[in-house]
Amino acid sequence: MKFFIDTANLDQIKEAQALGVLDGVTTNPSLMAKEGITGKDNILKHYVNICNIVEGDVSAEVVATDLEGMIREGEELADLHEQIVVKIPMIKDGVKALKYFSDKGIRTNCTLVFSPGQALLAAKAGATYVSPFLGRLDDISTDGLNLISEIRLIYDNYDFETQILAASIRHTMHVIDCAKIGADVMTGPLSSIEGLLKHPLTDIGLAKFLEDYKKGNS
Ligand code: G3P
Repeated sequence: MKFFIDTANLDQIKEAQALGVLDGVTTNPSLMAKEGITGKDNILKHYVNICNIVEGDVSAEVVATDLEGMIREGEELADLHEQIVVKIPMIKDGVKALKYFSDKGIRTNCTLVFSPGQALLAAKAGATYVSPFLGRLDDISTDGLNLISEIRLIYDNYDFETQILAASIRHTMHVIDCAKIGADVMTGPLSSIEGLLKHPLTDIGLAKFLEDYKKGNS
């Protein structure tokens, strides 16, 4: 399972990278705005800065919603750095854009996916990644994890190569549940990754080992 961090915050990206388990980064226009990154030039520079911190894929989202605009923006983003994956929304022109980029060998991440049918279309159009938003489904009393399972089943039925990128992960249990289902990638906040290492018995056990070592060596 690949671990991506879902943020545009450079300090958090550096911290996750330093842990040694980071495989990539996802961003979106809301995450960019949260960090105060505005204006096309600053946004493009920020993507390059992120690529220079991590070794893996970095999703960069188009803001156009028409095919021509998505193609223009997507090509510009893909030209920025070899690690860039063009993030395209699941709308009608988005499906056409996925197919266009797939034919050109440009990698894509189909975002804002909330149903198995949307995921099927994204795979048919040749998306590299599909991003089902499980947290936002949970927010409206719908089982987000069930969507990940349904997409896994459909993709496995037909050997689709599109990777399931479980997105809108909110906490550590989401990560574990997605790993059980077999999501290829998860993207979440730093806290969802760091939460994996926590266990009180580890802390208690370590304290006891150190105490006993001191006793034996004093
Ligand atoms: O990767 C998608 C993500 O950015 C959305 O997360 O927490 O805003 O639903 P959230």
